[in-house]
Amino acid sequence: MSSIIRHVVDVGQFDRDATLDLFAAADRLRDLPRGSDLLRGYLLATIFYEPSTRTRLSFESAMQRLGGGVISTENAREFSSAIKGETVEDTIRIVGGYADAIVLRHHEQGAAHRAASVARVPILNAGDGPGEHPTQALLDLYTIRHELGRIDGLRVALVGDLRYGRTARSLARLFKLSRGGELIFVSPAQTPMGEDIRAELDAAGVAWREEPDLARVLPGVDVVYQTRVQKERFATLADYEAAKGVYIIDRTAMNRLNPGAIVLHPLPRVDEITVEVDADPRAAYFRQAENGVYIRMALLCHVLGVKA
Ligand code: CP
Repeated sequence: MSSIIRHVVDVGQFDRDATLDLFAAADRLRDLPRGSDLLRGYLLATIFYEPSTRTRLSFESAMQRLGGGVISTENAREFSSAIKGETVEDTIRIVGGYADAIVLRHHEQGAAHRAASVARVPILNAGDGPGEHPTQALLDLYTIRHELGRIDGLRVALVGDLRYGRTARSLARLFKLSRGGELIFVSPAQTPMGEDIRAELDAAGVAWREEPDLARVLPGVDVVYQTRVQKERFATLADYEAAKGVYIIDRTAMNRLNPGAIVLHPLPRVDEITVEVDADPRAAYFRQAENGVYIRMALLCHVLGVKA
């Protein structure tokens, strides 16, 4: 990779060369035979203050598939000393003495930056509240390239909760690396894409537009990136109820979608993609989740300074 990224906290750290180098490493690692010892002797700590299935387990799988070890606290708000009042900074200082890299998911936006500011080992941001989810965005763009063979000249619809959905925010920012494409924001009125991301895209010269009518968007896009409405981030249940269920990818939607397009979702899903869609070859979200292992293998090798 062109330059070493020590802490992975923000997709803005990744330029085009670094990202394509990472994708090349992930391509090599996905074909690695079982029993690799590339990271033998290294230990990864996963500290999750919010629930997770994919991010935590795929990081742990990545580390163990490369021969490294894992220590973990999966409900750190309750089962770590956070419940006794320990700050995330102190926790990171301590765990930095136990492990060679730390994967952190936290409920507060900016927590990964705070952790990185005191860490003596690499921090990998696994999601900080409604802020960023950089490793997810990297695996999303990797999946687009793996499925469609390119990252340029693509029309990508980001659908659903674009206000609180950190994966959509991070992917929109990473899309600055793509050339000649367009982002289309399809969201309920309550959860539009943030002004900060719109301004960043404008400054980078990325084409984007809003289109509330999903049916009009589907025939003309290469990628539909559907997202869950983030119930846990709404102030009231009534606000959540007003935003949910507006956009559903079902068989009717798939019939409108371009035959060469793909459907992605960071998962978990609730009801925004119906299960009948799963059998469609354009439904790429389970393949996308598996790609998380390969991208995270590549990221671990990178931050630990091991050539993949
Ligand atoms: N996509 C994602 O972040 O999933 P988890 O919450 O299961 O980690």
